[in-house]
Amino acid sequence: MIQVPSSAIGVDIGSRTITVAEVKSGRGGTTVTNFGGVELPRDVVREGEILDPPAVAEALRELVGTAKLGGKRVWLGIANQRVVVRQVDLPAMEEKELRASLRYQIQEYIPIPVEEAELDVHVVSDYTADDGAQMQRLLLVAGHRDMISAHVEVANLAGLKPIGVDLNPFAVLRAMGETSPLEQGNQVLVDAGAGVTNIVVHEQGIPTFVRILVMGSDQITDALATGMSVAREQAEVAKRTAVVGRTADVAGRIVTEQADAFVDEVRSSLDYYQAQTGSSGLSGVLLTGGGALLAGLTDRLETSIRLPVQVGNPFPRWPAPDTVYSDKDLAGVGPSLVTAIGLALGGLE
Ligand SMILES: Nc1ncnc2c1ncn2[C@@H]1O[C@H](COP(=O)(O)OP(=O)(O)OP(=O)(O)O)[C@@H](O)[C@H]1O
Ligand SMILES: [Mg+2]
Repeated sequence: MIQVPSSAIGVDIGSRTITVAEVKSGRGGTTVTNFGGVELPRDVVREGEILDPPAVAEALRELVGTAKLGGKRVWLGIANQRVVVRQVDLPAMEEKELRASLRYQIQEYIPIPVEEAELDVHVVSDYTADDGAQMQRLLLVAGHRDMISAHVEVANLAGLKPIGVDLNPFAVLRAMGETSPLEQGNQVLVDAGAGVTNIVVHEQGIPTFVRILVMGSDQITDALATGMSVAREQAEVAKRTAVVGRTADVAGRIVTEQADAFVDEVRSSLDYYQAQTGSSGLSGVLLTGGGALLAGLTDRLETSIRLPVQVGNPFPRWPAPDTVYSDKDLAGVGPSLVTAIGLALGGLE
């Protein structure tokens, strides 16, 4: 019998912050038992890629010390330019056979030499082709091995034991896919971080589209720092008090311009999704990540894509009954913890 673990820890090494979350499954369901975060120095992780493993490990070690995690075995997440997700259609086969033969079937679909790649695959659907052949539609994930190794190295350096690596968009799906009543059509999850934005479209928990954009909220901070000739720390404060669409002052104008560029990227990804899949029924967007907290962003996105947009909070679905935080506080930090919680949830599967 396979022993399913009753608790698991996710570690999300982001471009700005490392966040950890621990989840536990019990009779009353799955709960978040612990979480925490630490801010990283600038440029040790850029656009989701680890540039300075010892510096990141030092921050992670500090976080592990303060977060009082219940173990050392952790799940890690990745999302950056060195991992790709592609839709691939192959003849239907058993999953075991598919995994064994994947390496030999997919080089033409990925821009990474297959011998330098770690591969993963998710079955989206089975269908019969026009010629009667049984086919399956897959989401193929291919990541550069050395990029993944850097994540593993950081965890090891911090005294942890990494036991698995997952794609951050799948973690976001796991954490958020069940949070709203399953509406008709496909729901869009957008996790906007500091340097990376993950987009997932899913139908009742099955991912149908994944896109990793190297675009994030730190670009807004940088634009404010340049445009207002201030230090990044001041720019960060200005960003948090500005409102998208309120353009009476310089900060508001810069933030609005940057938010519009972000909104345009999300919209063109969704246009691409609709063109690629021929699908139109999108039900709405849940926006998470620290970037979701920018005032006025949800309204701006809603106006542009003409779909309901809400800031997503994982805690109603995955409660944290033993923390000292109020529901209001949890709703405030929830959007930033989505990836770590989703990585931890993967460890329970
Ligand atoms: N209240 C707020 N208003 C506006 N922006 C905010 C707010 N709080 C956080 N942010 C922004 O959110 C970003 C950090 O988000 P998050 O923690 O999700 O990123 P990350 O996971 O470290 O990076 P990534 O996922 O891009 O690799 C920063 O750019 C920060 O300025
Ligand atoms: Mg992130």
